[in-house]
Amino acid sequence: MAETMTTSALMELDRGKQIPLYAKRDIVLVRGEGVYIYDSEGNRYLDAMSNYGVAVLGHAHPRFTTAVTEQLQMLATCHQSFGNDARAELLAALDTIAPEGLTRSFLSNSGAEAIEAALKFAQVATGRQRIVAAKRGYHGRTLGALSATAEKKYRAPFEPLLLPAEHVTYNDVDALETAVTGETAAIILEPIQGEGGIHPADDAFLQRAREIATANGALLIMDEIQSGFRTGVPFATTVASVSPDIVCTAKALANGLPIGLTMVTEAVSDQMPGGAHGSTFGGNPLVARGAVETLRIMRDDDLYARAERVGAYTVRAIEALSHPRIRAVRGRGLMMGVELKQKATPVLRGLQENGVLALLAGNLVIRFLPPMTWEEAHADELVDSLARVLGPA
Ligand SMILES: Cc1ncc(COP(=O)(O)O)c(C=O)c1O
Repeated sequence: MAETMTTSALMELDRGKQIPLYAKRDIVLVRGEGVYIYDSEGNRYLDAMSNYGVAVLGHAHPRFTTAVTEQLQMLATCHQSFGNDARAELLAALDTIAPEGLTRSFLSNSGAEAIEAALKFAQVATGRQRIVAAKRGYHGRTLGALSATAEKKYRAPFEPLLLPAEHVTYNDVDALETAVTGETAAIILEPIQGEGGIHPADDAFLQRAREIATANGALLIMDEIQSGFRTGVPFATTVASVSPDIVCTAKALANGLPIGLTMVTEAVSDQMPGGAHGSTFGGNPLVARGAVETLRIMRDDDLYARAERVGAYTVRAIEALSHPRIRAVRGRGLMMGVELKQKATPVLRGLQENGVLALLAGNLVIRFLPPMTWEEAHADELVDSLARVLGPA
């Protein structure tokens, strides 16, 4: 039983029995409540990462927990060949927030799966395979998604990759224009690059991407797996008034239950032969109920507006430090990055020692993806810790 084991025994199992793919951070997290998370020694941390932006309502949210528990007592799993009330309610809820024209959905279990589906759908819809993506772009690490992901360290061990892909400089319209041809199946972009260091796209770049895709008979796929829900609107792409053919999201959608979502136009959906794609767990009632409740809570508690307001407050408070070790502060809503003039890992470690959990985004950027229940007081707590870790200005 876990409660009878010491922290070091728990850590040893975690380190010693998993394939060592993750850099471990030497604490064992056992419990969460709202924006705080607790380790096995009872220490409390402000959770400014929410596991890559997943715990969007905070931890152990009472209304979410009740809804999911009730669903678990009712029906947890159900084959996709049958209708299901929770899944239908999710599809209805998605219909109210989907970017214009995206009327059909495929439900899966993770971000990478949402991207795999998008790439397969684009391949069928265009009869082509070639992808144009962005440098610094991240789309997941399954073999198809990895073809679109730019970072060499993720790609190199697995090359040659499944799909031919070209990576152009983000926000460079001319480079995109040159790369996209009559052989391109899809342009795939994040509206705000997350892993790449919190870089928002220019509206004009996304608008040209739409035009270039259309002119070449290619599809435009927007990857909102990280940006979804937390930038002040459900989908950041809509701010640029761009209508993609496909939008993918995941992370925040079910507040910690595994989900992936690929939304497409009728035209794309019409091309897919029955049985050409599927998922055992995708659209299961348990996770669907979790997603329905997450979307309802975001709406009822006005969390989109709060993300925009408190995100802007947080960015301003970090900027107000005017710290010489900070090069830039970037963000939209509660998707924020602090670019340092030095390696970010020691600062990340320092934040943890000072009671704040955050993420890296590349070597130089500290990234914050807190729950959308984040308040100004939490931002103040974060900024106090950051100031302590960075030292005297
Ligand atoms: C923009 C983006 N796309 C895709 C993914 C892959 O999602 P997952 O880790 O759920 O497979 C991520 C994960 O960080 C992401 O940020």
